[in-house]
Order: sequence, then structure tokens, then C-alpha cells
Amino acid sequence: MASESSYLVSDIGCLMTCSPQDGNSLGLVKNGAMVIKASQVEWSGAAADLPQEFLNLEKKSAEGRMVTPGLIDCHAHPIFAGHRANEFEMRSNGETYLDIQKAGGGIMATLGPTRDASIETHVALTLSRVQEAARWGTTTLEAKTGYDLTVKGELKCLNVAQAVQGKTPITLSPTLLGAHLIPPEFSDDREAYVKLVCEDMIPQAAKQKLCDAVDVYCDQNAFSLAETKLIFEAARRHNLPFKAHVGQFADLGGPELLASMEGLSADHLEHISEEGIQAMAAAGVVAVLLPGACVQLGMVPPPVTKFRNAGVSMAVGSDLNPGSSHSSNLPLAMWLAVTHYKMTVEEAWLGVTTHAAKALGKTSKGKLHPGFDADFVFWDAESPSDIPYSFGKNCAHSVFTQGRVLN
Ligand code: NIG
Ligand code: FE
Repeated sequence: MASESSYLVSDIGCLMTCSPQDGNSLGLVKNGAMVIKASQVEWSGAAADLPQEFLNLEKKSAEGRMVTPGLIDCHAHPIFAGHRANEFEMRSNGETYLDIQKAGGGIMATLGPTRDASIETHVALTLSRVQEAARWGTTTLEAKTGYDLTVKGELKCLNVAQAVQGKTPITLSPTLLGAHLIPPEFSDDREAYVKLVCEDMIPQAAKQKLCDAVDVYCDQNAFSLAETKLIFEAARRHNLPFKAHVGQFADLGGPELLASMEGLSADHLEHISEEGIQAMAAAGVVAVLLPGACVQLGMVPPPVTKFRNAGVSMAVGSDLNPGSSHSSNLPLAMWLAVTHYKMTVEEAWLGVTTHAAKALGKTSKGKLHPGFDADFVFWDAESPSDIPYSFGKNCAHSVFTQGRVLN
């Protein structure tokens, strides 16, 4: 089917537009229809309300399936080489993530293989991870760097993201995470590394237009609040939005900083103060929740009820990475969000659609509403709850990006 022309998606058992109507935040429509024009949604709603002018369009039948926006994974680290199954086993024997990190494992253990791998190897590895994510219904995926930690290598990883983007219709959102840890070469001079990130890495990435945002790991044994602020200021000087990994192990005040500087999102958030929650709510900073990593590391869940009551937008990410969450399966993350974090099914869906789009600053994604990108999924499902309910089963029947079905 040519996506340049218009077509009608017919026979939709349940259509989730994510365009809120009274009391229906997911914008659910029974017996829906949708018109696609080129790469965008032209019209969506109840089949009975389909305007006359669209009746004779070429039809693509959903055969009674549920149709939703393509899933958006707003927190993922797909650019790395090597793996760390050994650490998974070490944790099973009682060691903690931070113990392993202090002993030279963790992010540092991924540094060597990532630095050694050629661009071609990285492109192949990253592409296969993106394709795996798409099989589970993901149509937009963040791609963080952060496993090289040299200026040249971090830019190389951003170039990998760009090369992969040339090979897949899945939308990648590259993020510079040069501040993932202080690399071994700078262990005696952290100030010099922060300066390098601020004065070399960020300016070059911005000048070459290689990333959508800048990220910092602001936590115990990573970057301090003062260092994080310097990096955010550098990002701002170069017109790049920013976000941070915060409160995974300790609350250093990252949420308040993100709120005061208008960051995009605060991610992890197992530890956060009352003030941090209120500041995020007031500033519209998205809480990106990562249950895969939380469960795997045996952490206490973030305060979801408090986020809900304060009106903080909650997104759910896979945190795909070689250490704490080696999976790109967003429906599984939704299941964990509902069962372990006690989010509602509705919140889990908004977390991988509208709120994830907000966390990435992608205003044309996350809804099946006129003018939005035609990224959508046909699910072998009757209702939204079927997806997290059937955890481990892949219910994605066909995945469409920009109006075209993926092969
Ligand atoms: O989001 N906490 C920091 N970064 C990653 C883990 C990275 C790794 O262990 O390789 C996270 O969980
Ligand atoms: Fe992460």
C-alpha cells in the first residue's frame, strides 16, 4: 500500500486515540476507524461518524483488532557492545549493583567492549535491538550513549544512532549521556571530565546536530548535583533539552534542579522528597519510571500514589541496557508498572504513549489524532488491559510507522 496516498483503517474493534474525551483519558472508541494521509493521521473516531468523503478510500482492515498509538520508549540505552549476564548471576548470589560497580563492574565493564567495537559492529548491534523493540510494538525509541566516555567515542556512538536511523523506519531519539560515570582516565580529576563534557562533548554534539537531548546520571557514586547543574547549563547554552537519571539509589535533589531549570524528565525516582514531587508537578517535569531496573535490582518502588495525587505526568520506559534491565519489551514494563508499581492500566498506557512523547519533547507522537504521526499497532487484543495482563506474550500483530507497515 502506498503511504503517499490516503487509506482507511477499518474494522477496528477498539481504537485508542489517547486524545482525551470526558472521563476517557485514553480516548477509547469502540468500532473505530482511522484515515491515514501520507505519514499522518487525517481523521480518527467511531466508524459510524466517518465523514462521507473518506468512504471510498482504499481499506486496510484491522479485522476487529485493537489499534493504539505505537509505543514510545523514552528511556533506553541500546548503543553498547558486550553483555553482563555474569553480574545478573552475581546479584542472584547476593551482591548489589553498587558493590559490583565499585569492584569495576557495572557501566565500567561495558566501556571496554564498547570502545573496541567498530562503527559497523555497533550499527549491527543497535539495529538488531531496535528491531527487537519494534516487534513488541515500539515505534519510537530513545538511544542514549554513555558507554564510551571519550569525546570521540561518544560522538561515534551518536553517529551510530544516525546510521541506524538511516536503516530503520522506527524513530530514534539520540541522547548524549557523556555524564554516565567519570571514566577511569579522569578518576583523579573529575572536574576536568565535567569540563570536557561541558566545553567539548556537548558543543560538538550540538554543532553537528547529533542528539535531541543531554542526560546526566545524578546519583550516589555518579555525578553530584553541582556537577549536574554545570552540565545542564552547558546543554542550555547549546539549545539542547536535558534530563537526568535521579534518585535510583539516593536523592541528591535532582528533581528540584530539573524543575527549576525546566528539564524534560526525571528518571528512576525510587528516592525523591515531597518537595521534589511538588516541584516536578509545578514545572511539568515528566517522571520516567523504570520498573525493569527497579525490580531487577530489588529496589523499593517510586511513590506512584504521591506522583498521581500531585498531578505529575508518569511515563514508563524499558531502560534497555546491558546491566540493570536487559530488555526492550515495553508491554512487560507495563505489566511491572501495574503489578509492582500499582499504576493503573490507563496510567501504564499513557506512560508509553502521550507521557513518553512529552518526556522526549516529541509533540507529533503518542496520539492517533489528526496531524499526529501515523505510528500505530494492530494488537491481537480486545481492550487495553489485555496487553499488560498477557505479559510475556507478544500480542503485537502489525506495527506501522509513518503510515507504513513494518516487514
Ligand atoms: O538507567 N543507572 C544508570 N544507568 C543505567 C544502568 C547502566 C548499566 O548498568 O549499564 C540505568 O539503570
Ligand atoms: Fe538508564
